[in-house]
Amino acid sequence: MSNTPFKGTAVITGASTGIGATYAERLARRGYDLIVVARNRARLEQLATRITNETGRSVEIVTADLSNNEDLRRVENVLRTDASITLLVNNAGLGAALPLLNSDVDTMEAMIRLNVIALTRLTYAIAPAFVARGGGSIINIASIAGVAPEILNGVYGGTKSFVVALTQSLRHELADKGVRAQAVLPGATRTAFWDIAGQPVENLPEQIVMDAGDMVDAALAGFDQGETITIPSLPDVADWNRFESARQALMPNLSRSTPAARFHVTEAAQAE
Ligand SMILES: NC(=O)c1ccc[n+]([C@@H]2O[C@H](COP(=O)([O-])OP(=O)(O)OC[C@H]3O[C@@H](n4cnc5c(N)ncnc54)[C@H](OP(=O)(O)O)[C@@H]3O)[C@@H](O)[C@H]2O)c1
Repeated sequence: MSNTPFKGTAVITGASTGIGATYAERLARRGYDLIVVARNRARLEQLATRITNETGRSVEIVTADLSNNEDLRRVENVLRTDASITLLVNNAGLGAALPLLNSDVDTMEAMIRLNVIALTRLTYAIAPAFVARGGGSIINIASIAGVAPEILNGVYGGTKSFVVALTQSLRHELADKGVRAQAVLPGATRTAFWDIAGQPVENLPEQIVMDAGDMVDAALAGFDQGETITIPSLPDVADWNRFESARQALMPNLSRSTPAARFHVTEAAQAE
């Protein structure tokens, strides 16, 4: 058992492998007890045993398919009722690499159910509890595809844009209530994600693929630094800040009573 101070319980979805399993290990070392969620019980048990042996932290297993309504509501209930929870890591997610015309719409719907609906429902389950307790954190695993939807399947990019937007909105609404929200935008990360998406990671250029351990360590450093949006590979944060400033600069002109002059709508109406 380490001497690290107890930080409460972290719930991590998609913790049986990849990025989620890495978060589980890192957060236990940081002093969190864990509730790990995924479908594969055997993998979760292996992870729990290893983490408990190495850190002394308690690891509870919740086997759930988050695209199944009943299972999802069971996990929501855990979030609503366990007052020891201080952190939710919404990590479970599915990718797709095929372009729209080659993708099956039912597969796209299943991806939306996991990447968007499950993440939203779990956020709705925990956010009021965090507000009532005056604190808590939500880490949402998005993707660089959330700001660059051209690079993989567009529906995948769309689901991750949703995660980025929701996180920005959570920050806007909840920061003054003591609740922190961070969206992590990993680039290509060496996990099974790529096999499931139909594009083995070995086919990608080495120089664009990060190890999951490095990715999660950078994301947690971004969390410690108070970032709302963390792009683990981005060398200069000023690049993101310029992008964000350009977005903010649009705000005063996004809703006005008259169409923009370049559309010549008023002139056309007068000419009629
Ligand atoms: N790898 C990358 O290059 C990359 C880049 C950017 C963003 N991301 C994002 O990072 C997150 C984690 O991905 P990863 O790379 O770690 O992928 P991964 O290795 O495939 O892991 C996905 C995790 O989600 C769980 N999961 C999948 N479907 C589930 C369901 N229906 N219900 C509950 N759990 C489910 C899986 O466990 P079970 O099979 O046991 O359920 C597994 O633990 C995803 O949101 C992904 O979009 C990944």
